[in-house]
Amino acid sequence: MVRAWYMDSSDVDQRLEHHREPPKFVSLDNLFAVTGVEYFEINHLDYETDTTLKKLREDRGYTYEDEITCSKKCLQNYEEKLKNFFTEHLHTDEEIRLVLDGSGYFDVRDKNDQWIRIEVTPGDLIIIPSGIYHRFTLDTNNYIKAKRYFVGEPVWLPYNRPADNMECRKQYLQQLLQGFETPSF
Ligand code: LAC
Ligand code: NI
Repeated sequence: MVRAWYMDSSDVDQRLEHHREPPKFVSLDNLFAVTGVEYFEINHLDYETDTTLKKLREDRGYTYEDEITCSKKCLQNYEEKLKNFFTEHLHTDEEIRLVLDGSGYFDVRDKNDQWIRIEVTPGDLIIIPSGIYHRFTLDTNNYIKAKRYFVGEPVWLPYNRPADNMECRKQYLQQLLQGFETPSF
């Protein structure tokens, strides 16, 4: 089950969450309102027949999918990739991830530029909007397996912060101001 909370502003090792004050949790509705990040719960054990996922894929037109495993053994250039994932960046497209196994943290900036940490575990599907600054880290288990979805030919290119002049960034900020539309399901 997904949980999200505001991060401590101190620079402690951010993976060792148990050494910090009790976090200020953020509800999924609030997360959506202040970031545009969407969440869906999927039956990860049988995701191919999951009706929520099926509808999502149809409605949003996901034509591409693959699976990524982040662990020392399974990911080539593990250290470098993880370092890049944790460097604050944005993309020109949505980042869609369904966790099948393991766990990790997606950190996203809220509308006041504060970090919100989203803890993901199996069955969590999150959609990170294009143009939002974010980053990813494994937790101390050092393992996650996730499905990635995409509309059209996948582009995984990160644009590190600052990328404020990019069109997708401007559009994202515009949406933040206007308020995100509640998804139809
Ligand atoms: C990505 C995530 C890790 O860009 O932010 O793939
Ligand atoms: Ni990313």
